[in-house]
Amino acid sequence: MPTIVIIGAQWGDEGKGKIVDYLTEKCDYVVRFQGGCNAGHTVVVDNEKYVLHLIPSGILHKDKKCIIGNGVVLDPLGLLKEIEILQNKGIEINDNLFIAKNCHIIMPYHIAIEEQSEKRKKIGTTKKGIGPCYTDKIARNGVRAVDLLYPETLRYKIKANLEILNFLLKNLYNAEELNEEKIFNDYIFYAEKMRKYIVDADILINKAIDDQRNVLFEGAQGTLLDIDHGTYPYVTSSNTIAGGACTGIGVSPKKIDKIIGIVKAYTTRVGEGPFPTEINDSLGEEIRKKGGEYGATTGRPRRCGWLDIVGLRHAVRINGFTGIAITKIDVLDGMDKLKVCIGYKYGSEILEDFPKEIEILQNCVPIYEELPGWKESTVGIKDYEKLPKNAKRYLQFIEDTLKVKIQIISTGQKRNEIIIKETPF
Ligand code: GDP
Ligand code: IMO
Ligand code: MG
Repeated sequence: MPTIVIIGAQWGDEGKGKIVDYLTEKCDYVVRFQGGCNAGHTVVVDNEKYVLHLIPSGILHKDKKCIIGNGVVLDPLGLLKEIEILQNKGIEINDNLFIAKNCHIIMPYHIAIEEQSEKRKKIGTTKKGIGPCYTDKIARNGVRAVDLLYPETLRYKIKANLEILNFLLKNLYNAEELNEEKIFNDYIFYAEKMRKYIVDADILINKAIDDQRNVLFEGAQGTLLDIDHGTYPYVTSSNTIAGGACTGIGVSPKKIDKIIGIVKAYTTRVGEGPFPTEINDSLGEEIRKKGGEYGATTGRPRRCGWLDIVGLRHAVRINGFTGIAITKIDVLDGMDKLKVCIGYKYGSEILEDFPKEIEILQNCVPIYEELPGWKESTVGIKDYEKLPKNAKRYLQFIEDTLKVKIQIISTGQKRNEIIIKETPF
């Protein structure tokens, strides 16, 4: 009956969607517990590509229950579009999707404010209104899913928020004000479409766990984008780490059995912020092309770099991974040698722990260990023993330095291009 939390160990886009889709086969429920449609989780099944933004990546399997938890910030328009795209591809949604009454709703003023504030702050956000929506949640101004079902409450909240935000838009940002009536009418329309999905998700999931169901918790973004433990301020606005799974759906830490860290075989980052192992020459471009490293949500090119054990050690520590999955090993095929960062040099200091100081992260120099590459293709390999010797050596190095077992190795985009070295169930 395990409950398994899936967490991105780097700066997102590690391949969480693919692993969640694969593991869903043996599960009954899949829960998203934070983030919103800033996420882009790609799953390839039978040569058809699906990009999930809000709906858990388990939805592609028949009869699996998918829950959007209270920790998520939900854009109704984004959700309805996503439902439509999936339904057009023949995916069953109606009885399989649940939305927590207490998840917060992204409003047009969140997107409008972010559009403006990004001009000054330059975090490189996805401009999906994520930060401003979480801001309203914490400030206790937020609109929750359940408010959509109470028109008077919805009207009151939109009015109260617009009083402040329209003032900012007009007077600080010199931007267009938003119309209360239009927002209210649009959201009443969305509410009618969403009504059937809105439930007490905490009760639903706790009952499922008590009934010994297998549950996956699907993290979005990655550990280094965590609002508390990431490279602040170049982070997202939620707790992306394992602890977020408990608060983001309402499940006790006592009920979490396993935590799997998803680790891309190299590192990528999209948006601004420090990235010590970034490769700034043509090799970075080569990896980007080979790995298809373009944002699944915004289409922006992802910055590419070597694997960073310092960042990963931090991720292992604060998430308590019980196992890891290495993805995209095939992207490294054909390289002469591979570098792995095992420490940072900052002035005369050698750092083994991921620094909190953005100034250090921006100016440290990675200390690399070089490992030999492999010439053979690993694409689609399903048996660990069939991997090239040096690919196994690379994986063993990661396992030894992180002291966490590699349970899964992904060898391609497709669902069945995977090695299960040790079952997480
Ligand atoms: P997520 O946000 O963590 O779910 O990851 P994304 O979907 O944003 O980015 C991962 C990309 O890598 C997607 O295009 C996946 O289809 C692809 N992918 C996942 N695993 C593998 C793999 O093992 N090999 C290759 N070549 N591509 C993979
Ligand atoms: P998945 O779930 C990679 C990045 C943005 C930006 C920062 C803040 O697909 O791994 P936000 O819009 O969240 O306020 O932007 O976080 N970011 C991601 N990077 N993968 C993601 O999601 C991301 N979601 C947000 O690029 O740097
Ligand atoms: Mg992604």
